[in-house]
Amino acid sequence: MKEKIEELLREIERLKAQKLQEVEEIRVKLLGKKGAVTRLFEEFREVLPEQKKEFGQRLNILKTKAAEKIEELRRKIEDEPAANTAGFDYTKPGDRFELGGRHPISITREEIIAIFNKFGYALAEGPEIEDDWHVFGALNFPPEHPARDMQDTFFISSGPNPVLLRTHTSSVQVRSMERMPLPIRIICPGRVFRNEAISARAHCIFHQVEGLYIDKNVSFADLKQAVLLFAREMFGEETKVRLRPSYFPFTEPSAEVDVSCNICKGKGCNICKGTGWLEIMGCGMVDPNVLEASGIDSKEYSGFAFGMGVERIAMLKWQVKDLRLYFENDVRFLKEFDSVI
Ligand code: DAH
Repeated sequence: MKEKIEELLREIERLKAQKLQEVEEIRVKLLGKKGAVTRLFEEFREVLPEQKKEFGQRLNILKTKAAEKIEELRRKIEDEPAANTAGFDYTKPGDRFELGGRHPISITREEIIAIFNKFGYALAEGPEIEDDWHVFGALNFPPEHPARDMQDTFFISSGPNPVLLRTHTSSVQVRSMERMPLPIRIICPGRVFRNEAISARAHCIFHQVEGLYIDKNVSFADLKQAVLLFAREMFGEETKVRLRPSYFPFTEPSAEVDVSCNICKGKGCNICKGTGWLEIMGCGMVDPNVLEASGIDSKEYSGFAFGMGVERIAMLKWQVKDLRLYFENDVRFLKEFDSVI
């Protein structure tokens, strides 16, 4: 018996296998019902009582070694599936390759730009870190004017022309008027910053799109037409528009634009708070002071401007109720926009 155990141990040491099937055959030959190791355990019953301890220990070692060897051969094959075509399941579905989607804010911003591109507006951009002149001064906000409080500002430096994070994209109007030849017809998307507490309806970082059109004889009727065409492209052909008088330091007259609620078709629902109307942007005729501040002759030229919040447009379009969802980047939320592209 001792020799048989030794012999088997040597044999086990030398075992090799190329395929999982061969490993299984080895297992049956050693540990199966009629396997060599199993048979030795049967012979063990006849062993004299004084030898039981010694042989018992040797047999247990043999069994463990056999099991370990089988496991080792199996793992080796499974770890190299490419080299072992027999153990490779070609029918197994591949790992899914997840494609990323576009963020709802990007989708909305690009849609707004595309609509205005169609109407002949060129893209213009400006810096997020600005100075007081481009964000306030040149836009007819006198120093200490209460209108500056409308937009709580993050200041970076103090002094006569402090550096700050722009609170609106209207600063890009100023930079464009300073630089571009007339007439000007531009659309300016960008990130803006305000010192506001974060809630479902407000955030300290958000996105705006600004529009500006300056030429000879631009009138309020042109503004109204631009706004109407945009609203119909964005919210649907039947969309109605209304303008309410408002105030901005850089426009005169100024107005707030409402569109008919696309959820209840103007009948009144909880999205439009029963009014049938949704506010989408501010607009107005560029104040002559603003034209002059950037070196444009206000007797010869006139223009209109408008500004809208991208998050707000996206909220109205997809009925997103909490602004914070746009910034959390929860994939479950983002995935809802996969089909929008
Ligand atoms: N800048 C304004 C804001 O951030 C939005 C705005 C209103 C822009 C009227 C305009 C405009 O160009 O004409 O609230």
